[in-house]
Amino acid sequence: MSIQVLFEPLTLGAIRLAHRVVMAPLTRMRASLPGNSPTELNALYYGQRATQGGLIIAEASQVLPNGQGVPATPGIHSDQQIEGWQGITRSIHDKGGLAFLQLWHVGRISHSSHQPGGGLPVAPSALPANGFAFTAEFKRVPFEVPRALATAEIAEIIAGYVEAARNAMLAGFDGVEIHAANGYLLEQFLQSRSNRRTDVYGGSIENRARLTLEVTQAVANVCSPDRVGIRLSPYGVANDSGEAEPMPLYNYLISKLDEMGLAYLHLIEPRASGAGQAEVDHQDVPSAAKLFRPLWRSTLIAAGNFRGDTAAQAITQGYADAIAFGRLFISNPDLPTRLSTSAPLTPYDRKTFYGGGAKGYTDYPTLYEPSLNGMN
Ligand code: FNR
Repeated sequence: MSIQVLFEPLTLGAIRLAHRVVMAPLTRMRASLPGNSPTELNALYYGQRATQGGLIIAEASQVLPNGQGVPATPGIHSDQQIEGWQGITRSIHDKGGLAFLQLWHVGRISHSSHQPGGGLPVAPSALPANGFAFTAEFKRVPFEVPRALATAEIAEIIAGYVEAARNAMLAGFDGVEIHAANGYLLEQFLQSRSNRRTDVYGGSIENRARLTLEVTQAVANVCSPDRVGIRLSPYGVANDSGEAEPMPLYNYLISKLDEMGLAYLHLIEPRASGAGQAEVDHQDVPSAAKLFRPLWRSTLIAAGNFRGDTAAQAITQGYADAIAFGRLFISNPDLPTRLSTSAPLTPYDRKTFYGGGAKGYTDYPTLYEPSLNGMN
């Protein structure tokens, strides 16, 4: 089996990729404050990782002010943010790359310090997540009991995604990815653990899947379905998520999504932790890509603890069409080149994942520019 399968072209909805090494969405907490807007340093970072015909899925970005749960994460709901993202799409496109933006609402994985007017975070039900929130003052405190959204408010959430998708296209993105993974708002609705609603958005599988399907359809209506992808983490455990019996729920959801003609389905393998907070490599878990490939007709992107050889294997065996790399793309700006030439990979420094400046962000070396330091 040859690594070269990663370097065969691929049609992804409306766009054509020259290779299958995708950059996974990665929160880096380096947006400007106040305003949570992308910066020139962020544009440099993304530009370093862009390749001719390669896809970058830009980091999770809040669709509404009340969708924020981590300080210094970018949004896509203000003019200043759209302008900041324009700098990033320009820097990716200048190198011939393609860019999707991940649309994010954290739901209960927030804290009142992020909320407009200091209100409580919103969620499907008034059930707090186990664990610790990250306040606007960069402190860790136990999650608050969130406020359950009224049925009438759900239309505002959907409208927020639609407006954010429009903004992303104005910012120059080639498409958007809906973040329905890792314990955030859409997954909170999907899973009975966090959704105890008694209206049409809770209870049965059909009802719990309703919000994700409505958001996806509404976004597909404004962007065109072939410019929309969706990320799911069946069997994943992150931010106090986890469905006791994932198969019936995800069988239903993925079959319904398949009917929408989307650009791609992006599945996180459960052997990887949700947000890469720890070194996790569970071996005895099912492969999400293997389980759900039969239900998905268009492109499937798999992510989670892949290396060059395992990525090539997944594609050769037909479980995935492209592979998204997270942590290795952080520390190897030229990851596609390194994989194609079997060059050694630079290890990542976990301490600089979240927050800070150029260190651990734009100063990782490339093969041909070993002293690249962010100022070049
Ligand atoms: C992540 N991950 C992540 N996932 C997501 O859907 N949106 C996001 O914004 C982030 N942010 C993020 C930040 C950091 C620093 C890490 C390490 C991870 C998860 C990521 O996209 C990917 O699924 C995992 O990292 C597993 O893939 P790798 O790293 O094993 O290739």
